[in-house]
Amino acid sequence: MKPISRRLFIEETGLGILSTTVLPSVTGSPVEAQVNSPAVSAPRTKITIKVNDVSHHLEVEDRWTLAETLRDHLELTGTKIGCDRGECGACTVLLNEKPIYSCSYLSVWADGQSIQTVEGLAHGDHLDPLQQAFIEHDGPQCGYCTSGQLMSARALLNHNPSPTAKEVRRALSGNICRCSNYNRYVESILAAAKRGQKHA
Ligand code: FES
Ligand code: FES
Repeated sequence: MKPISRRLFIEETGLGILSTTVLPSVTGSPVEAQVNSPAVSAPRTKITIKVNDVSHHLEVEDRWTLAETLRDHLELTGTKIGCDRGECGACTVLLNEKPIYSCSYLSVWADGQSIQTVEGLAHGDHLDPLQQAFIEHDGPQCGYCTSGQLMSARALLNHNPSPTAKEVRRALSGNICRCSNYNRYVESILAAAKRGQKHA
């Protein structure tokens, strides 16, 4: 009997699953899925986007989300993907200064637009006041949601430099924190607002 290694197990069970996959045909009789069919190439579009004040000319697949383009093609991995379906806010970036879920926004829609990611908050060694306050007030726990929280908070302070706690909570309502560190995030943002908008 052939010895079973982990690799062999995965290869054989994977092929088994694929080879038994059936797709309903339009006539009602099932057709076998084509295991070895060549990858379908998706339409591509040339776009120009400005990210953190730098212009990028890119050719993107029409199906790529903005989060994918930022992370996988511009290496801006500070933007996180949590749910990948517009529910958690981990992927929040600013599009023309407004917070959006980049996992639910196609890259082609961003053509000609200006995007700010968490990488664009600090100026050289000088942290954004929000980043400094997050550190001082223990905002991040695991940190997975933090870049999204920062971007939502930045959008808030850009148009309302002295928010109330209620306004901060409302601005963060689209950013889920699985560590449930909401009170510290609110404290941090209020502290940053009190300190003013100078980079640390
Ligand atoms: S990863 Fe985009 S909303 Fe959760
Ligand atoms: S700090 Fe862990 S998810 Fe928010």
